[in-house]
Amino acid sequence: MMMSVCVAMSAVPSAQAQVAAPQPERMRALVHLVRQDCGSCHGLTLQGGLGPALTAAALRDKPREGLIATIVGGRPGTPMPPFRGIVSEDEAVWVVDRLIEGFPADGGPAAIAPPPLQPRMQ
Ligand code: HEC
Repeated sequence: MMMSVCVAMSAVPSAQAQVAAPQPERMRALVHLVRQDCGSCHGLTLQGGLGPALTAAALRDKPREGLIATIVGGRPGTPMPPFRGIVSEDEAVWVVDRLIEGFPADGGPAAIAPPPLQPRMQ
């Protein structure tokens, strides 16, 4: 009995809520997407435009879940479109975490050098 409990517990990942970070190539594509497509409304420096600023300072106190849901589902009744199908939920988590810490520079769609990204810390 004890054994099976131990086995069952060890099968559960210790950080279940954690999502896998995208592959490096996909990270680069996401950074480019945010800088270009999101930037068309949120400003090329993400300081705000038609949409509000997406800088670390602007997002720091906002609930992460709401920001993630906004990216995936959009904000009905506002110009914020849903990115479901373009950006997965896990990728939206990754994007929000990067926005909160200060979004990385766009390496371009076909950059050869790896992007200057930190591995996920939490
Ligand atoms: C067509 C214009 C447009 C595009 C493109 C767009 N947004 Fe938005 N976004 C908005 C507007 C407008 C709002 C504010 C909605 C409201 O009034 O609540 C918003 C809100 C947000 C919010 C919530 C901010 C807050 O302070 O609560 C986040 C996060 C966000 N957008 C992220 C993104 C990301 C990431 C992308 C690209 C994947 C993106 N947006 C693309 C227009 C846009």
